[in-house]
Amino acid sequence: MQLDLEFFKGKKVFLTGHTGFKGTWMSRILIGAGAILTGYSLAPNTTPDLFSMADIEDKMTSVIGDIRDLDALWDAFSKAQPEIVIHMAAQPIVRDSYKDPVYTYETNVMGTVNILECLRRSNTVKSFLNVTTDKVYKNREWEWGYREDEMLDGYDPYSNSKSCSELVTHSYRSSFFKEGEYPAISTARAGNVIGGGDFANDRIIPDCVRAAKKGEDIVVRNPYSTRPYQHVLEPVTAYLMIVKAQYEDPTLSSWFNVGPDDCDCVTTGDIVNMFVEKWGGIKRVDRIDPNAPHEANFLKLDSSKLKKTFGWKPTWHIDETIDRICEWNRVWFADGNIPEIMDKQIADFLK
Ligand SMILES: NC(=O)c1ccc[n+]([C@@H]2O[C@H](COP(=O)([O-])OP(=O)(O)OC[C@H]3O[C@@H](n4cnc5c(N)ncnc54)[C@H](O)[C@@H]3O)[C@@H](O)[C@H]2O)c1
Repeated sequence: MQLDLEFFKGKKVFLTGHTGFKGTWMSRILIGAGAILTGYSLAPNTTPDLFSMADIEDKMTSVIGDIRDLDALWDAFSKAQPEIVIHMAAQPIVRDSYKDPVYTYETNVMGTVNILECLRRSNTVKSFLNVTTDKVYKNREWEWGYREDEMLDGYDPYSNSKSCSELVTHSYRSSFFKEGEYPAISTARAGNVIGGGDFANDRIIPDCVRAAKKGEDIVVRNPYSTRPYQHVLEPVTAYLMIVKAQYEDPTLSSWFNVGPDDCDCVTTGDIVNMFVEKWGGIKRVDRIDPNAPHEANFLKLDSSKLKKTFGWKPTWHIDETIDRICEWNRVWFADGNIPEIMDKQIADFLK
């Protein structure tokens, strides 16, 4: 993928969710590019955690705080004086949102209000991106991809809170800022992200890796659901492309899908089969829970707008994505150098 990382050298960037899976990959790229990076998030909540492995904490200003706390957020934000703001902090797990909808809405909706309040109070920001999800659309189990002007109405509390986060962003843009002027405000709705270093619960690749580590079978509870799976570097670099483009030309700001091509929208069962084949020595077992909470069966994104606006296209197909996941995890299983494998994969991706 063509991304001019030189642009980020010396730029002040404020990233929420920097301790998470996507946030750590993005931080590693931005630090490598010479950005002056401030992150604001809760402490990592998985064991192990990618943030600690990635060796970035001492190369940035890492603030541990709650996105629901506007005073603490503003304190970090005003000290950072950012030109670019990327908002990723969220409670991102569907099943957890069924367990604690109140926390999910507080974090995902009021967190968005709070970061936009910081934007409103500040006069330094030129480019703002809110990272939402493919799940923001009202799911009609269509076989074709959703487009950006389709109805926003996620089903479960996670998806729905992200639809609300979109609407909050739209309202702030029309109420307090001017379309086409600074700060340029966009949202990006990416697909299901997979890659090395995701240790979250209730996600299929982390489940595969945990099973491989323990030498156990991979239990699949939803083998027939189709998802727009993509390597983590796809959306992360697309986000950077958008924030750069609208920094240079605020009329480019908009709402963008960031999904894989149709040929890479596969079922969860297919993904697991590919992992099993490439990893070797483990097997898949299906254990469908008839009482599981509702999750969409069929979900695809139409990313024509992103392609047309920026000439963007996905870089790694699903086969290479699974290869890269295996490559990363073989290094980790062998106690190898994680920052090195991250930098290698970033360089390979951006070639
Ligand atoms: N992983 C995916 O498949 C996927 C797909 C589409 C969109 N997204 C979105 O991308 C973003 C990052 O997701 P991820 O996969 O890296 O998740 P993650 O769980 O690995 O990271 C979430 C980040 O948000 C922070 N956070 C959570 N609650 C917070 C709070 N109350 N206050 C401050 N920080 C808080 C965490 O500390 C962490 O840094 C989220 O907005 C998510 O909705 C993820």
